[in-house]
Amino acid sequence: MTTILTRPTWTTDLELEIFDKLLERYAPHLPKKRLEEPRPPQTDEEKENFYNFRVAGAAHDLFIVQVCAKIIDSFADLELQLFLSRQIGDDGAHAENTRLRAQAISGRNPIEDIQKQVQKHWDYMGDLPIRNWQGFLAFELHYELHIVALLFINSRTSKINDPDSAKFAAERILPDEAAHRLGVVDWWQRKFDRASPTEKKDLIAQVLEADEEGQRRRNPYLWEHWHLSHKAIGIEIDDLPVLYDAWRREVLSYFLDIPVSKLPRLVSVKD
Ligand SMILES: [Fe+2]
Ligand SMILES: [Fe+2]
Repeated sequence: MTTILTRPTWTTDLELEIFDKLLERYAPHLPKKRLEEPRPPQTDEEKENFYNFRVAGAAHDLFIVQVCAKIIDSFADLELQLFLSRQIGDDGAHAENTRLRAQAISGRNPIEDIQKQVQKHWDYMGDLPIRNWQGFLAFELHYELHIVALLFINSRTSKINDPDSAKFAAERILPDEAAHRLGVVDWWQRKFDRASPTEKKDLIAQVLEADEEGQRRRNPYLWEHWHLSHKAIGIEIDDLPVLYDAWRREVLSYFLDIPVSKLPRLVSVKD
């Protein structure tokens, strides 16, 4: 018997619809569309801040590559393996492009700085991403889906960007990341939709537990990264904590097929 999905399909249109609904509710003063085109970093200080922001971006992508590469052959699910091999290739290409832009802007090789930041991800995430499938799913949720609130804010309020990075992001990163989010949704739904009601209850509890652990582990990093983003590219971060928490509830509500209002209280980025 096939399961009848009560959920709409997860698409970038649905993401936009959900985010704008949250914006309306929690931060109606923030723009629904970009109001000003970003300009390149100009002063030495701006260039240094932008360099640090790019290093953080490369580290985010390279950490994803390292995690996925470590865990890929522990899954017997070939559809998942195919998805992960694409994710490794894409996020590797994003990391490499970002590295090259950081180098072009600063005139120095950012590899050691990127390596230090990748190590920080391993330090705060611990073994969660590679512990078991639950931990890996939580990792994918945090690194691909929960960050979307930040990406929306960035795309509407950032004031500084490098034109080459912006072009690569529009042409390559945006469509790739949308495919990654869909890939995670697809993997999860193949698992979840096959489960019996009792198994589903169990799966929900396991995923929530791992996702909450991921949130606790990521909280200090998120604050640090948001402040860096504000300093380097001028995004508005005052409303990010509330938008981030609300967006994460929406994602989990969709994944676990539970109305937002019925989800338990979750770890907040403010905790
Ligand atoms: Fe990426
Ligand atoms: Fe990605």
